Amino acid sequence: MAVLPIITAPDPRLKVKCEPVAAVEKTIARLMDDMLETMYLAPGIGLAAPQVGVTKRVLVVDVSSKDGPREPIRMANPETVWRSDALTVYEEGCLSLPEQYAEVERPEKIRFRYLDEKGVLQEREAEGLLATCIQHEMDHLDGIIFVDHISALKRRMILRKLAKLKKHQALAAD
Ligand code: NI
Repeated sequence: MAVLPIITAPDPRLKVKCEPVAAVEKTIARLMDDMLETMYLAPGIGLAAPQVGVTKRVLVVDVSSKDGPREPIRMANPETVWRSDALTVYEEGCLSLPEQYAEVERPEKIRFRYLDEKGVLQEREAEGLLATCIQHEMDHLDGIIFVDHISALKRRMILRKLAKLKKHQALAAD
């Protein structure tokens, strides 16, 4: 397994609509493992392939508590087949928007399908934090980041802050 560099916003690579995976072969299974290792180290609870520069419909999540056993879910070509009318609000963050948080409203429960790391079609339901996390990661596969769900004013503020941070980091690295 390997830790991959995470792309941070603003970056055009985070705005790309990703391609479906043709088949979950070894390279995809390895990508899922690398993404999990990258996510755990960060640490985060979800990571989508475009965040590590791969424009494929692959994501990983794990919302298990710190003290319990890990509960990773590896998904290729995930899609939502049902969303509840009831909404819920979580303060979201993103490994591609370091230290930026905002409240985002999303369906509280979802039913979703995906191919697991063995290429087997799975259908599950999720609610609460897991449902929010999966919807956040699925958004990434369509080039959407969580600040696209908040007011334009707040979004611009956050992206400006991140752009400034990037500039500073680039200068520091010179
Ligand atoms: Ni994210």
